Amino acid sequence: MKLWGGRFKKGESKLMEDFNSSLPFDKRLYYEDITGSIAHVTMLKNCNIISEEEGNAIKKGLEDLLSDIEAGKVLIEGTYEDIHSFVEINLIERIGDVAKKLHTSRSRNDQVALDMRLYTKKSAIVIKEYLEKLVNTLNKVGEENPYIMPGYTHLQRAQVVTFTHHMKAYVSMFSRDIKRIENAIDILDESPLGCCALAGTTYNIDREFTAKELGFKKPVDNFLDGVSDRDYLIELSGDFSIIMMHLSRLSEELILWSSKEFDFILIDDEFATGSSIMPQKKNPDGPELIRGKSGRVYGTLISLLTTMKSLPLAYNKDMQEDKEMFFDSLDTVSKCLIVMERIIATMKIKKESMKKAVKAGFLNATEVADYLVNKGMAFRDAHKVVGEIVLYCEESSKAIEDLSLDEIIKFSNLFSQDIYEFINYENSIKRGIKKNM
Ligand code: ARG
Repeated sequence: MKLWGGRFKKGESKLMEDFNSSLPFDKRLYYEDITGSIAHVTMLKNCNIISEEEGNAIKKGLEDLLSDIEAGKVLIEGTYEDIHSFVEINLIERIGDVAKKLHTSRSRNDQVALDMRLYTKKSAIVIKEYLEKLVNTLNKVGEENPYIMPGYTHLQRAQVVTFTHHMKAYVSMFSRDIKRIENAIDILDESPLGCCALAGTTYNIDREFTAKELGFKKPVDNFLDGVSDRDYLIELSGDFSIIMMHLSRLSEELILWSSKEFDFILIDDEFATGSSIMPQKKNPDGPELIRGKSGRVYGTLISLLTTMKSLPLAYNKDMQEDKEMFFDSLDTVSKCLIVMERIIATMKIKKESMKKAVKAGFLNATEVADYLVNKGMAFRDAHKVVGEIVLYCEESSKAIEDLSLDEIIKFSNLFSQDIYEFINYENSIKRGIKKNM
């Protein structure tokens, strides 16, 4: 069943019909397609393009179809070309020929552009809510665990930080992601309805009305661009890729921290799995899957950029390829954000192990150098002196704070009793990152 055919002598081949059909994946736009159509038909009626009676009959038919779909009484399936054909043909079957007036002054080109923008805007708001929930949990878990831990560069123990500070690094990242999503929503928030196929319409329509009715800030400025713009999908795919990159970095840390080598956290049993052969194993599958899924989300970004590249104005069927990829990214990012929030909320933080790692890592070496600088030594000289102290400590298996004053003074006579107070880890935190919390 099709919405076209008058100018064809032969029917479409079954092969082409299958190849062309987008219903299996654009059926998720049914709500947007029907609400968009209701706004359109209301406008047609208000502008006297169709009669009041016709408008009311079409609107009622669309509302009934929507509630039947939502109640599971109508299934979206069959040999329809797309969701737009499905809705219109069903409407004709329900209310008769008057339904054929719905498509006055509209094309599937502005219709699909509208449906996709509405769906994307709604979904981006949900992603933002998931991000906000994750940010709250990271803040809470961070604040509840203000313990010292090693901070790393090059994955080598570097300086002491707190678990709170570490969690708040991710709070900063995901807070930027929220701003990026808000910005993308703000840019896409314009209605393409009324652009028609590519060049507007000869009818005296009211695009301001439909834009307002559907919750957009305004109608798009340009018809050709309105039907062929998919920037917002690319932009959000970029934003999703950055979210996945952040989630993947966090996942990587959780995977490392939950290993026996680090032993800083315990991932809750609910988000780990076992091995079918090695009975002792508990694998961090939750974070591993999140890390792995970043690949498919990056793939969407490249795929959409490539699909859109070189397309002449205005609509081209290539654009149908935006849907499966984008929907997959949307679903993937949603699931990953939800799962990560639960992993963070349920994991246990091993305060003592983190403290042990701090002590074993000479994480106050920079502070020892700062101490000497405060006593008048040039930093470069202090750096050398402390390097020698670390070497000595390694050979005698001691931490710097475990050296006696007699031992440490051999490296520089600027050392005195107050060194111990100065290089105490908690004091370093107070002087350093505390200012940044
Ligand atoms: N399924 C199409 C898409 O996703 C809908 C628009 C069809 N327009 C057309 N002129 N054939 O892009």
